[in-house]
Amino acid sequence: MTELQALRARHSVRAYQKKPIDPDTATLLKERIAQLNQAYDLHMQYIEPAGAVFGGLASKLTGWSNVPAFIAMIGKRSDTLDERCGYVGEQLVLYAQQLGLNTCWAGIFKRKQVTADIAEDEKLVLTIAVGYGVDQGRPRRSKSVADVTDVQDMPDWFKEGVEAALLAPTAVNQQKFTFTLDGDTPSVSVSANGPFVRLDLGIVKYHFELASGRKIQ
Ligand SMILES: Cc1cc2nc3c(=O)[nH]c(=O)nc-3n(C[C@H](O)[C@H](O)[C@H](O)COP(=O)(O)O)c2cc1C
Repeated sequence: MTELQALRARHSVRAYQKKPIDPDTATLLKERIAQLNQAYDLHMQYIEPAGAVFGGLASKLTGWSNVPAFIAMIGKRSDTLDERCGYVGEQLVLYAQQLGLNTCWAGIFKRKQVTADIAEDEKLVLTIAVGYGVDQGRPRRSKSVADVTDVQDMPDWFKEGVEAALLAPTAVNQQKFTFTLDGDTPSVSVSANGPFVRLDLGIVKYHFELASGRKIQ
């Protein structure tokens, strides 16, 4: 499965099979985490078993079950941390999908139960649940291309990028972003306030770039 196929196949999965991650698969994921930590100055950590991080009654009500592992998204406090976590975490989400795993970004989880190594100047931004889903998840409601851009007569690469951005996971499926095109230069910005909007922006940028083959501001 290519990364672009993974982008199209991915849906959030909250219910997992009671099965640990295959050790070779976990090793591949940990190696990618190490590479990306280095490249983007982050301190992401793979944690298995997930223990009680997605446990308890409130979590059950949200739909979490049997989460075997997760990635703790951690980095030095900075104005760019949230967006970087989105941009980089989504690369791990798509890689996990390519490895036959399922995932779900999680802003709400039991922080005190996270046994990661977090330095004084670092922040645990959020987590990504990882495991073998009981199913592959399902498509959800989405805004349309016209809802997120006013650009008329758009080039194919721009349309493909925006369509891929609309497949991106966002907190509470808020999709609060707007795309513009100035000559040949695309950009995307947050269109309204909401939880994790800067992090969503990083995820959306990665989807756009992957599908369009262009960098975006
Ligand atoms: C930053 C962020 C935080 C999220 N937090 C949670 C969460 O706490 N609990 C949850 O069940 N889903 C969470 N999600 C998953 C979204 O609800 C999901 O991505 C969205 O509804 C779109 O569905 P899809 O991922 O299947 O495309 C989060 C997603 C993102 C991007």
